[in-house]
Amino acid sequence: MPLTRPADTLSPPRGEGWGEGCIFRFKGRDAWAHAMNVMTSVGSKTVERSQDPSVKAPAALPQIERLVRHREPGDQPGIIRLNRNERQEPLPDWFVEEIRSAVTSDLFTQYPVADALYEQLSASLELSQDEILLTAGSDAAIKAIFHCYVPPGGSVVMLEPSYAMYGVYTEMFGARRVGIGCNDALEFSAKELSDALEKRPSLLMLANPNQPTGTLLDGKIIRRLLERALELGVLVAIDEAYYPFSGITYLRAIREFPNLVITRTFSKACGLAGLRIGFAVAAAPVIGALYKVRSVHDVNTVALLAALKLSQHPEIVEQYVRHLREGAEIVAQRARELALEVYPSSTNFILIKVGHLVPAASVVDGLLRRGYLVRGPFSQTCLAACIRVTLGPPKLMNDFMNALDATLRDCRNH
Ligand SMILES: Cc1ncc(COP(=O)(O)O)c(C=O)c1O
Repeated sequence: MPLTRPADTLSPPRGEGWGEGCIFRFKGRDAWAHAMNVMTSVGSKTVERSQDPSVKAPAALPQIERLVRHREPGDQPGIIRLNRNERQEPLPDWFVEEIRSAVTSDLFTQYPVADALYEQLSASLELSQDEILLTAGSDAAIKAIFHCYVPPGGSVVMLEPSYAMYGVYTEMFGARRVGIGCNDALEFSAKELSDALEKRPSLLMLANPNQPTGTLLDGKIIRRLLERALELGVLVAIDEAYYPFSGITYLRAIREFPNLVITRTFSKACGLAGLRIGFAVAAAPVIGALYKVRSVHDVNTVALLAALKLSQHPEIVEQYVRHLREGAEIVAQRARELALEVYPSSTNFILIKVGHLVPAASVVDGLLRRGYLVRGPFSQTCLAACIRVTLGPPKLMNDFMNALDATLRDCRNH
């Protein structure tokens, strides 16, 4: 009995909600089941039961039924996407050419072998191979952490707002989310974090730098949290997706803190978002647990090849980070000229406060009409006046700021 994809998941995102690659809200079980397009064959005749409300698909687990996620709409041609924090500069031609010429039929026909990349990472990070786990994007590493350490009925402490998938995985594994909000200066309270830790959550999940705020937690606060979490037996995950831009890492601390796991990605500064590759780093017992829940052969052959070559050529990332900083300078300077405030960012995106001049939603719409997709408006009070813009090299940022200038003028004149 073939099941077609529920029509519901193909519809474009609706309503509020935000995150990287997902929009989620709660919905009833009946609405989901009703949308299922169940077909069955009787002899040569196909009977379509999708319109019959008495025919229901089996329900998924209650926490999955409550979770609603939609497929993102496709790209609009000609739009520059500054909403997903992707690398905004092509990888060098020689790099792409070397990957292209190394792509053989075997890479398609054979299951992936990751040994070379494990060896390379182990050497460059000065870790043993059993302290590293390669995953299909760092998102898969984060999901594995939840899978191993967050029981149904448990709780997860996270910054609020933060990477949307932390909330999704909390729901998915039947746990409770404990969000630590930020003030208008986008600062998180150390006291609230440590009070939440005292309640012995299943996981303390920190993005550092955080997304979408772009902020880093103070090093002393992180160390105190790690010390206390160790005493309490709580796992701390630090998501370092934006590490190449911040230069701040807790990787070395995994030897001191067996309750610490770090996730990193090749998606952002490295520019391999489309290939899906990242990794987790932790003491061997934690990596051993994460290994058990990974999907078999999850990291593909081409991703392994490209990540290996990038790891052998750190200058590619270093050069991009330099260009990005020059781009960030241009945004900051032009924003000042336009009487706009920008928040300091340790990442490849920047929050620009526009709400005191015109509503953030009108700016997002106006920029889209001028060919730029940015993130916003945000539902959180601390970000309500902001748009979030992925940073790129100077020329792109100059062009973008011209579009922002024109958009603000349009908005004021209407
Ligand atoms: C903070 C943070 N962590 C993790 C990810 C996931 O990245 P990936 O799965 O591409 O490695 C993202 C993506 O935007 C992110 O912003």
